[in-house]
Amino acid sequence: MAVGMNNFNIGFDSQTSELDNQSLEVIGTIPDWLRGSLYRNGPALYKVGEHSVNHWFDGFGMLHRFFIQNGNVTYSNRFIESRGYQAAIEEKRIKYHLFATAPDYTWWQKIISWFQEPVFSYNTNVNIAMYGNQLVSMTEKSAYNTHDLSSLATNDPIDLNHIGEVTTAHPHFDYDTKEFINFCIKFGPKSTYRFFSKGVDNAEPRVFAEYETVLPSYVHSFGLTSDFVILLLSPLKVNPLKLRFGNKSYYECYRWYEDHDTKLVVLSRLDGSLIKEVDIDTCFIFHFVNCYQEDNQIIVDYCAADNAQRINHFYLNKIKAEDLGSMQIRSRLKRTILTTDGKEVDTTDTGIYFEMPTINYKYYNSHSYQYAYGLSYHGNSENIENALIKVDMNDLTTREWYQANMYPQEGVFVSNPDSIAEDDGVILTVVLDTEKRDSFLLVLNANDLSELARVYVGQIVPFGFHGTFMKS
Ligand SMILES: [Fe+2]
Repeated sequence: MAVGMNNFNIGFDSQTSELDNQSLEVIGTIPDWLRGSLYRNGPALYKVGEHSVNHWFDGFGMLHRFFIQNGNVTYSNRFIESRGYQAAIEEKRIKYHLFATAPDYTWWQKIISWFQEPVFSYNTNVNIAMYGNQLVSMTEKSAYNTHDLSSLATNDPIDLNHIGEVTTAHPHFDYDTKEFINFCIKFGPKSTYRFFSKGVDNAEPRVFAEYETVLPSYVHSFGLTSDFVILLLSPLKVNPLKLRFGNKSYYECYRWYEDHDTKLVVLSRLDGSLIKEVDIDTCFIFHFVNCYQEDNQIIVDYCAADNAQRINHFYLNKIKAEDLGSMQIRSRLKRTILTTDGKEVDTTDTGIYFEMPTINYKYYNSHSYQYAYGLSYHGNSENIENALIKVDMNDLTTREWYQANMYPQEGVFVSNPDSIAEDDGVILTVVLDTEKRDSFLLVLNANDLSELARVYVGQIVPFGFHGTFMKS
């Protein structure tokens, strides 16, 4: 194999084989206490008929479920039957809008498209979580698809368009108040970020804070503390009029405003008031790590790149050419601290390359914490994340799991039910083994990242985005 040709891009190929409760062989030992389902979500179909999507984010979504019980594992995977997927299968074309792929229009449809609002696929391939008592898959258009917890079958969608047209696939669940929290953006001459919460019952979502702007930024996630919600608004912005008409894809309507800063916005969860808006060093953010309040300070941890070029390097033609960009597009772990009176703001760039961050979410989200887990780069050998690391947020020391020709995805922390220590638990990740051309569920001791077990699937699990573990 030539140097630099590590064959990782087989993780970006379509996977059309759907398995139903396939029993898998466990190599090693899974702790007895680990019982439940690891759900994961990600793209899995990049071509229908003669038509390909343009971008990694546009592959039609597939759910994966690793069911763990008594040390045994079964695996199921199933396509998300969004309206875009159904139309693609039936008509063998891209009928509705995706993130960076416009529909396959005839010349006549292209003309008509200038006078019609785009119709989106609701290709909910980014994340999976509970919304009330329903398992939902999500993307950034404001509808969740619902799913059967066991079979993964797709049921009726939940429409949030009455709150706003786009949302995030990174809602929070506040375990203290038992609220599901997210926001939608309502586009208009002035656009509004509208934060809403929903209790675990069947209550309707309630808007509790709003923030208005002329040029809304692309926002992938937000921060949550006990009293505040936090936005980081990068210069990747859109004139909403561009979204309404024409045949450009959603992402192509956005542009990077070179002379704009990144704005940090803090809103009160208690009365919706604007606590602080302040410019910080220009950066682009996909993911917050964690946020919390301590004394009179708000601590905001996030993964930031210098610009949004990272998105452009996930076009499939660049991935296939192994052109994943330079080190400058990598995300680094940053911490911004501001005083609750808003008078002092200070940002530290740790220099640690860090993406797809996770923590011991249930017990430490919105609270002071010590450990974060994420993807990074072993040495500087490759330009794709090929290591899973653990960062001690107190002293910024790191531990690493890395093996040659292996590519881990996001690591999900599951706590030991008898745990006292923050990192007493396991990390569950799905790893692509390019030599075997197979993927495996990897169970790591979260304390030292030592391997407890690996479970080969027997086929490739395409590179995906986010997942969650639900205890039985
Ligand atoms: Fe994400």
